[in-house]
Amino acid sequence: MVIAPAGHFVAVREGVTLLEAALQAGLSLPRSCRNGTCRACMCRLVDGRIAYRVEWPGLTAEEKSEGWILPCVALAQSDVTIEQPDARVAPPDSRSVRRRAF
Ligand code: FES
Repeated sequence: MVIAPAGHFVAVREGVTLLEAALQAGLSLPRSCRNGTCRACMCRLVDGRIAYRVEWPGLTAEEKSEGWILPCVALAQSDVTIEQPDARVAPPDSRSVRRRAF
């Protein structure tokens, strides 16, 4: 998966949602419920095909036809490019940060 416009590349394993793949790669994307209802993660699919792991993702037919997707419940069905200007490199997990003893 490519996340535009920054051009982050993320490997997406089968059965892993686009959001989960981004998080596992150390990228932070807007999100909240992670079950396809709150729409916090909504972004555009620029290229490629997806399927949803839930039957009724919280998008209207019009939004779907305009290319909007919910990456928290979207599974890649091909190479995909999404547009999410708010994607950020996540700060290091505080649990993994070593503190220096003085
Ligand atoms: S995080 Fe709520 S719909 Fe994706």
